[in-house]
Amino acid sequence: MDFEEGVTLTKYLIHGGRPLHGSIEISGAKNAAVAILPAALLVNGKCRIENIPQISDVTLILQILRELGAEVRTVNRTTMDIDCSSIQNAPVPYELARRIRASYYLVGALLGRFGWAQVPMPGGCNLGGRPIDQHVKGFLAMGAEVEVRNGLIDAKAPGGRVCGGQVYLDMVSVGATMNIMLAAVLADGMTIIENAAKEPHIVDLANFLNSMGANIMGAGTDVIKIRGVESLKGGSYSIIPDQIEAGTYMAAVAAAGGEVEIKNVIPKHLDCITAKLLEMGVEVEERDDSVVVRRDGPITRTNVKTMPYPGFPTDMQPQIAACLCLAQGTSVVTEGVWENRYRYVDEFRRMGARIQVDGKVAVIEGVEKLTGAPVHACDLRAGAAMIIAGLAAHGDTEIDGIYHIERGYENIVEKLSDVGADIQILFVPDDDAQPQVG
Ligand code: EPU
Repeated sequence: MDFEEGVTLTKYLIHGGRPLHGSIEISGAKNAAVAILPAALLVNGKCRIENIPQISDVTLILQILRELGAEVRTVNRTTMDIDCSSIQNAPVPYELARRIRASYYLVGALLGRFGWAQVPMPGGCNLGGRPIDQHVKGFLAMGAEVEVRNGLIDAKAPGGRVCGGQVYLDMVSVGATMNIMLAAVLADGMTIIENAAKEPHIVDLANFLNSMGANIMGAGTDVIKIRGVESLKGGSYSIIPDQIEAGTYMAAVAAAGGEVEIKNVIPKHLDCITAKLLEMGVEVEERDDSVVVRRDGPITRTNVKTMPYPGFPTDMQPQIAACLCLAQGTSVVTEGVWENRYRYVDEFRRMGARIQVDGKVAVIEGVEKLTGAPVHACDLRAGAAMIIAGLAAHGDTEIDGIYHIERGYENIVEKLSDVGADIQILFVPDDDAQPQVG
């Protein structure tokens, strides 16, 4: 997509009610990329990283790496060479780091490499309280001193190098698991993480680090053991496909109807989503590295509870809720990970959805049709859910706050247009509040 001078990208306009047909190619996984790129800070040599998604969270992390002195060279659209051999340790720039959640991975990576890190507290989607106490617990167990003050996380290993330690996570945390792994790969001795997260991106980060010479065992189970090594050398690595991007397009076909092949996926990673769609009367056919999703009959009601992998992912909760708004009967959705992931419900109601929320539970009474309305993308996955609802609705849906969506979905407008969706980008000139279609 091109950004014209003097024009601000503001909204998506969807004319709904068209079934989707064709194929969609899935990009590299956002939540793997945002950990693997900071992990390059630990490597003494050139890393070639392939299948990097072109999303704004990645752009920000690459900018931070450059600020720290990394040499970043674009090989092609999705491949970068990153060389951190001659980086200097320095406080991470506040304006960049506070805009993304994943900036917390810079703490683990810089602490592991230099024995010292100073990183602004992270930003990212507002899903309720987002504490980092489990990350800190891990760093403390490895002998670091950690202080949070003036909006900064300051972590220091007294001898200049963290040592191995044992940490039992009080709750399954993706971020804490990856951050402790990052700090531990160059530590003096063995680190053990118990009650670790098992998401595909945890395994991907471990595979990346191991391919550079780390010694990590057990990633993908709830006990991960990391034996510290002296240094990591360069190499090549390709990031896994994005499970949630694939799931989002699967849900889009479920809601709008039609038949779409979702290509470049690992079907095993999609099992939790596929199982739910099958219960809802959607056909899903698994192939080697694609899934074909088909829906021409009614959507059946179901219940969904989100939980850590291999449970149903919280990052698919708003998108599946969009489908259930159109199901026959009443569905119950229970959010098991975040305390506040229903901020999108008021927006769905504008489109005619019937949803009641009580704490972590949403009761969705299916309606025969949704109607287009102006709505707001209040976070990344809520924004994706607004698109899904808009594709299925009768009439026009205008979505604002789309910078949230662009944090995590590469070329979403192009990918959906290619399968027949009527979706356009609206531009608003800086000096004029009237949108123009672009
Ligand atoms: N938690 C704590 N203390 C901690 C860490 C987590 O109490 O120190 C709690 C959280 O408040 C939450 C639960 O533990 O209730 C799980 O949080 P987790 O640490 O797993 O989440 P995260 O690492 O901050 C990542 C993804 C999220 C995704 C969650 C869960 C990234 C950058 N973000 O967040 O992705 O929802 O894991 O799978 O990887 C998204 O992509 O839309 C997104 C929000």
